[in-house]
Amino acid sequence: MSMTSPHGESREESSLRKETLRRRTFAIISHPDAGKTTITEKLLLYAGCLDVAGMVRGRRNQRAVTSDWMELERKRGISVTSTVLSFEYQGFHINLLDTPGHEDFSEDTYRTLMAADCAVMVLDVTKGVEPQTKKLFKVCVQRKIPIITFVNKLDRPGGDPIGVLGEIEQVLGIGASPLNWPIGEGADFRGLCDRRSRVATVFQPDTTASLMVPSESVPLDDAESSLLTQEERESLQRDLDLLDHAGEPFTRERFLEGTVTPVFFGSALTNYGIEAFLEAFLDLCPSPDMRQEDIRARTEFSGFVFKLQANMDPRHHDQVAFLRVCSGIFTRDMDVTNARTGKKLRLARSHRLFARDRETTDVAYPGDIIGLGHTGDLRLGDTLYVGTPIHFASMPRFELECFARVMCNDTLRRKQFDRGLTQLTQEGAVEVLLNARSTQREPILAAVGRLQFDVVQARLQTEYGVETQLAPLDYHIAREVKGTLRDVEALQLPYSAMVTTAHDGRVIILFKSQWDFDYCKKGNTSVEFVTP
Ligand code: G4P
Repeated sequence: MSMTSPHGESREESSLRKETLRRRTFAIISHPDAGKTTITEKLLLYAGCLDVAGMVRGRRNQRAVTSDWMELERKRGISVTSTVLSFEYQGFHINLLDTPGHEDFSEDTYRTLMAADCAVMVLDVTKGVEPQTKKLFKVCVQRKIPIITFVNKLDRPGGDPIGVLGEIEQVLGIGASPLNWPIGEGADFRGLCDRRSRVATVFQPDTTASLMVPSESVPLDDAESSLLTQEERESLQRDLDLLDHAGEPFTRERFLEGTVTPVFFGSALTNYGIEAFLEAFLDLCPSPDMRQEDIRARTEFSGFVFKLQANMDPRHHDQVAFLRVCSGIFTRDMDVTNARTGKKLRLARSHRLFARDRETTDVAYPGDIIGLGHTGDLRLGDTLYVGTPIHFASMPRFELECFARVMCNDTLRRKQFDRGLTQLTQEGAVEVLLNARSTQREPILAAVGRLQFDVVQARLQTEYGVETQLAPLDYHIAREVKGTLRDVEALQLPYSAMVTTAHDGRVIILFKSQWDFDYCKKGNTSVEFVTP
């Protein structure tokens, strides 16, 4: 007999509804150095997940933020892999998807953004919209993800808040509507004025670097208060009036449909504006059911795999599949169907993740990210479901533009080398190709960016104990041939093109230039060339 609530819902339906409503699943996008790591750390501090303020300071040499864990990341001081940070704050369950900042990992970032309901775009007020932000922004637009903007580093001289708003609108083509406004700039940056309530908050300079910055608030029109100088009050009134008349109006509907981004100002380093931003964010960020109309009414479990990662724990050569729950309740040991293969599988090993730390998860709700262990059968983009069949759109792929032959230095470790390459291919970290017209067994790595090669080499060494050498190849375009084997054999190819096969048997041809490819396409109209 199932228990029912006063609304006529079963206990399970009621907990599904409540838990879905309190989920916030988002990613932060930014150009390197805009302050993503600092903001992540501050959010974790507010949520009580980290207890040492400033633990990431000085990370140029020793990068120790919780989400950065790979050897290579530490060496280079860049965030390479995406991880998920889950934490509770004021009754909300927050899932923060960490995206790699480096452009060579745009594919990884794209996949991660597939799992987000909202993105926070962090801009440096002195630099405005930078190239990497532009790329990531485009991905959000393609995915129709609503974007909340945080303009950081207001404590730095040389910032131009109005200029940044103009840049967001012109360069990114989205309306920018500030929800707060800075009081002073650079060394004179003292606080923020909430635009809707017109209440000004002034912070006390914090010498102890503690989290809760003391502050005082006053309505802007309170002429008696000495909190603001006459000049500050007038300047604020002028700016706010100007924004009211000429600025982009903000509505929740326009934000959710992606035509306007709410903008917040602040300084992550000094904690000015972070708490208010977090509160506003929790209110604005849609819960998992708000954007996915097709599954809003679905109560049966479904989810998709957006990332595979081998060797998260170097002591065990395991592979973790990151699954975003889309509908229903996930319970450990449940039997699900893989929409790609039609096969049933039992999800026995499930973890909730906090960067590298894992704990076993028995239950998860829409918006949650869980790590599934021992998942040899799972591939990127796989949909898992219970009950009525459902199939989520497959993962889009980026162009492979970098190619290199990879050689195993020690032939005695060939087995480990092959296993490492197979796992890294399954993860989507790199594509491994073999020259179809040569007896040479050296595989060819194909990647979106060169840095992916370094990651593969570093991981082969640390995770599989295999030293490798790379010989870059002068190819720049890869196309998969759709046709029979006979079609492929009959192709008229430029002398310099190379026919290769991928691990799953697809035939992929490498070209040295666009001209070579165009020439080949013209001469072989019976086959179709697609981006692999
Ligand atoms: P990222 O993850 O987006 O790459 O940026 P990150 O947080 O690492 O910040 C890049 C640099 O900017 C860091 O300085 C950081 O301290 C600084 N920063 C972040 N937010 C603010 C801010 O609000 N105001 C100011 N003035 N600086 C800020 P760094 O010198 O590169 O590193 P560190 O020695 O401080 O660790």
